[in-house]
Amino acid sequence: MGYRYIGSKEKLAPKLIAEIRQKCPTARTVIDLMAGTGLFSLALRREGFRVVASDVMTYSYHHLVVNLKLNHAPKFHGLVGIVGEGSDTYNRVLDYLNHIHPISGFFTKEYSPGGNPLAGCRPRMYFTTANASKIDAIRQTIKSWYEHKLINDVEHSLLLHDLIMSANNIANIAGTYGHYLSHFVQRATDSISLVPCAFEEDDNIEGHEIRRGYAEELAPQLTADVCYIDPPYIKRQYAANYHILETLAREDDPDAIGESGLRPWRDQYSDFCSKVKIRNAFDLIIRQIKCNNIFISYSEDGLLPIEDLLCFLQQYGNVELSKIRYKRFRSNNSSKGLELTEYLIYLLKV
Ligand SMILES: C[S@@+](CC[C@H](N)C(=O)[O-])C[C@H]1O[C@@H](n2cnc3c(N)ncnc32)[C@H](O)[C@@H]1O
Repeated sequence: MGYRYIGSKEKLAPKLIAEIRQKCPTARTVIDLMAGTGLFSLALRREGFRVVASDVMTYSYHHLVVNLKLNHAPKFHGLVGIVGEGSDTYNRVLDYLNHIHPISGFFTKEYSPGGNPLAGCRPRMYFTTANASKIDAIRQTIKSWYEHKLINDVEHSLLLHDLIMSANNIANIAGTYGHYLSHFVQRATDSISLVPCAFEEDDNIEGHEIRRGYAEELAPQLTADVCYIDPPYIKRQYAANYHILETLAREDDPDAIGESGLRPWRDQYSDFCSKVKIRNAFDLIIRQIKCNNIFISYSEDGLLPIEDLLCFLQQYGNVELSKIRYKRFRSNNSSKGLELTEYLIYLLKV
């Protein structure tokens, strides 16, 4: 199973890229400023673009490393002494992690029914106790390998990417990690298993840049022919809704607060989720980024009505709007309709 991510552009990517090519036929370098899952960056890479990708979330960074920097499995030389020699070390590394002895650690304590949350609330049910203790053992091993320099930066990102993807497959949630379900669904009772990543095999892996941080702060440092901005469009903060993935990516044991066990997430708060702050956030980016061709995705469900957003953007240059009908992101219990209109705004800065 893939990644259910609010606002993912995996399926829309071909249409978005066609629009970019049509408006900017000579463009070579594209900034994917709020890259999320990194799947739009991957689509750009496939199409031969040089990509500059960023996001405020750490899990996004690891996905981007895999999506932009790898076209085959890394060698994992440092682990040969642990997993044995042979041509297929990556698979043996995953096999080793898949058969690791479970331990009772942070995930077991905070996110499984066998735990005992520090906050004093009833045990949470994001993962079965068996899966949480397997996750504890896997994350501890990856962290220790990295600290002991047995794996390099790219290998580290790949293993964290694999762990995040596999944890997603068996998480007991209805779409996001805002809360867990009160009964384990069938999928969540399967044993967690790291699955080998299917690498893109093309040669376009040189020259891409990956950054971590607020777009508003990174903007002055970024230059490209085209900038694609895919901001949050609703109030739900990514840092709160994907807190467990962030904890896997950061490899820490934060305070797990309240019934839901959220990590402290204000350091990754997004101004794009606030009707009051969103204009200032756009302004900081559009004024400072060294790029004149700016494409912005927005949704019919967005905090700002599309007319207001278009009117606001007109102060920076010429604005054009295209509309795409699209399958709506829905939590399992959502009552909203199946389709919505996705907007793509082309702003030519003057
Ligand atoms: C709609 S999602 C992008 C989805 C992405 N295009 C994909 O296909 O996966 C919005 C992303 O913006 C990021 N984000 C929100 N505010 C941000 C900010 N101020 N600076 C950088 N990233 C931000 C979130 O972490 C989230 O990943």
